[in-house]
Amino acid sequence: MTQIQTAAPTDTRGVREMLTASGYSKKAIDYYISKPHMGQIPDADIASEMTGSCGDTMGITIKMENGLVSDAKYQVMGCAGAISAAMAVVDLIKGKDLDYARSINDGTVFQVLEEIPVKKHHCIQLAVKTLQKALDAYQLRQSA
Ligand code: FES
Repeated sequence: MTQIQTAAPTDTRGVREMLTASGYSKKAIDYYISKPHMGQIPDADIASEMTGSCGDTMGITIKMENGLVSDAKYQVMGCAGAISAAMAVVDLIKGKDLDYARSINDGTVFQVLEEIPVKKHHCIQLAVKTLQKALDAYQLRQSA
């Protein structure tokens, strides 16, 4: 299992070269290195976690304001593909309503990332499924 990712590495040149050679776009690498939405929202309205078929785990916390996603953060115990996908999901849903968040799929995230290795596409799926699981739980709670 991959180690939990918390901070951006200090010397990124080697990492960039390695990920570029593996088939990651600059955009995906930027997300992986800067990790702009990594963490946890303490007073989140929505929270969920999920383990993928690879054994890696993600958690998401979401804060809502006036029916819109005001903030979201992921905790990722996973690979560069998983981290870049999770960060892209947050940029997609921030400021949007739940219907839009629900419409996010693997293709939407892939478009943002531009390119990641084919064998890492399931990592996008994990980020999306974690989001959808959280939204399902929230909707269920709202309708109870
Ligand atoms: Fe497990 Fe990427 S290999 S999330």
